Amino acid sequence: MIETLQEACDYIRQKTDNFQPHFGIVLGTGLGALVQDIQIAYSLNYGDIPHFPVSTVEGHSGKLIFGELGGRPVVVMQGRFHYYEGYSMEQVVFPIRVMKLLGIQKLFVSNAAGGLHPDFNTSDLMVITDHINLLPTNPLIGKNLDELGPRFPDMSEPYSELLVQQALEVAEANGLQVRTGVYASAPGPMLETKAEYHYIRTIGADAVGMSTVPEVIAAVHMSLPVFAVSVITDLCVPGKIKKVILKDILEAAAKAEPNMTLLIKELIKRQD
Ligand code: HPA
Repeated sequence: MIETLQEACDYIRQKTDNFQPHFGIVLGTGLGALVQDIQIAYSLNYGDIPHFPVSTVEGHSGKLIFGELGGRPVVVMQGRFHYYEGYSMEQVVFPIRVMKLLGIQKLFVSNAAGGLHPDFNTSDLMVITDHINLLPTNPLIGKNLDELGPRFPDMSEPYSELLVQQALEVAEANGLQVRTGVYASAPGPMLETKAEYHYIRTIGADAVGMSTVPEVIAAVHMSLPVFAVSVITDLCVPGKIKKVILKDILEAAAKAEPNMTLLIKELIKRQD
């Protein structure tokens, strides 16, 4: 595993003239346009990077992009890997581990999620403060990769409280309304039933999606501070549940995208 990570890193360093990103960004479903704000220096197709999984889902284009966002060197995953696509957990988090080995100091993650909190509206932004893993497994099962992190990583602060605080300040300074809440990861690919929404709400979640948690677990394992934000693309609250189609999710994500981009960009500008 370490060797495959190393081979991917070696290839990337060679193709990017040793570009040194300080921050990693993962863009979720329908949220790829943040890339337009990046001064792109290098762009690699996932398919060309040794051992990288290849993205299959609609709305994800599958590129690792290197450049500057708000004047800071970043690496951006345009498109991510989901458990429901059939990838192993190791594959899902492979790029996160690669970005850490490339030297990123913080990870910024976005996703599209269903809103469970009764006050949420579509296209709201929810800064994630904690999560509940409802996937049947996680990326740390199996032999521990001691080079990356400890056997029993602490999970008392998976989302950096400092980054949450800074994000709320950035939102306030820019007149953005943001929510905070708990994200639950469901396996998908089907959306949840009404009874499942009720259950997931009851156990303490404010939003539900099909990503992010494995990546955050892998990041926390490597002591990488994480910031994550959900774009609420549909409402999963009794009385407000409608049939969901991917087009609607992409439309709601597109509407929220400028706000999400502003939040992440301004937050990154504030980092050392
Ligand atoms: N569940 C419900 N609604 C959603 C999801 C999900 O996983 N992702 C985006 N909207």
